[in-house]
Amino acid sequence: MKIENFINAKQHSQKHPVEDINYFINNLNSFSQEEITQWLKAVKANGLDDDETSALTLAMANSGNILSWKELEPTIDKHSTGGIGDKITLLFVPLIAAYGINIPKLSGRSLGSTGGTIDKLESIPGFKTNLSINEIKEQIKKIGLAVCSASSDLAPADKKLYAIRDVTGTIDSMPLIASSIMSKKIATGTQNIILDVKAGSGAFMKTIEDAKLLANKMVGIGRNLNKNIKAVITEMNEPLGYKIGNSLEIEEVLEVLSGEKVEDLIQIVICLAREAIHLVYGSSAKTDTELKDLLLNGAALKKFESMIKAQGGNLNIGLPQAKCIEVVKSEQEGYIQKIDADNIGEAVYSLGAGRREVTENIDHSVGIVLLKKHGDKIIRNEPLLEIHAKSKEDIEKIKRKLLSGITFGQKEPSKLKLVHEII
Ligand code: URA
Repeated sequence: MKIENFINAKQHSQKHPVEDINYFINNLNSFSQEEITQWLKAVKANGLDDDETSALTLAMANSGNILSWKELEPTIDKHSTGGIGDKITLLFVPLIAAYGINIPKLSGRSLGSTGGTIDKLESIPGFKTNLSINEIKEQIKKIGLAVCSASSDLAPADKKLYAIRDVTGTIDSMPLIASSIMSKKIATGTQNIILDVKAGSGAFMKTIEDAKLLANKMVGIGRNLNKNIKAVITEMNEPLGYKIGNSLEIEEVLEVLSGEKVEDLIQIVICLAREAIHLVYGSSAKTDTELKDLLLNGAALKKFESMIKAQGGNLNIGLPQAKCIEVVKSEQEGYIQKIDADNIGEAVYSLGAGRREVTENIDHSVGIVLLKKHGDKIIRNEPLLEIHAKSKEDIEKIKRKLLSGITFGQKEPSKLKLVHEII
């Protein structure tokens, strides 16, 4: 196959045969960045159909190792498209393990303002995220769960394509996003996959319609490749939970697993766990109430603590704390109508909790603690939120903008719908 013909075919909206897609991905290193970019731009403009998207996914998955968990079945993998304060994975993994399903979870680091699970876990002193596959298997055999960083051999062709997409304005393409995410899920090798596709200002997909399109594409790819797969579309216009920032989110995970009833986190994790169990067993032996018990009564906490211990973490040393903490009081009164997730994400990013390049360092200690949430009533001068920062200047830099993203009104707003659809 000639690369010029391959590019030309997509520029003219022609369908690629599977062999051409395989050839392109297998020989990715022999093409110039310019050639790859031309193809990516043609895909962004003209799309890929379902067969092409599945073929691209499989080719990228096959560019590295495909893991196997045969001796550890049933196993499940979870993916979130990312959001602000999204610590759901860190609740879901111990809950599912407490239920009795093995979960080898390979996660990423933060990019942009949404946090990465690996960064959050690395705020625990000593916690190791770079386990070998054999170490992960040994750990799963003993305790049923592990959360580790994905090795560079997991879908390396996606890594290369993503790096080029990132600098050529070609991230924003449904088939490229769907195949990129799914190539890593296929390479991770579990038979069961549950996807949390977030919709809203703090998410990759800004509207429920786009989130549905992406979810349908990813579920379609998974089913085409014989996976048990479901997607849940969840709300991401407001931050999840009260704490946003790496070590702050670990703190909140420990609070919930110790029985603290943080309604939005609990509702979403229970929905995902219920759907995941259905996926694995066809039905669930437990009701939502029983799953909630498992989450809050200490069973999931035990699993989480055993994972921290197995991966070398030590909670007794204490989580990183920010040097400066300022309580910000409300200048208005009434009911909170909206706390814009994107605005909070930007604030937390500028405090140093996120990164734009994978090589940048982050500050685990900084972030925001909301003291009030959607629908809460507040009076003037009542504490509204805390800013955890490394300096007074950092606090002053974000304070005004942070407050401008919170809307007040005199009428109590209706409750947020947190789960939009299950696909
Ligand atoms: N996340 C991914 O892994 N890939 C994309 O293309 C977008 C988000």
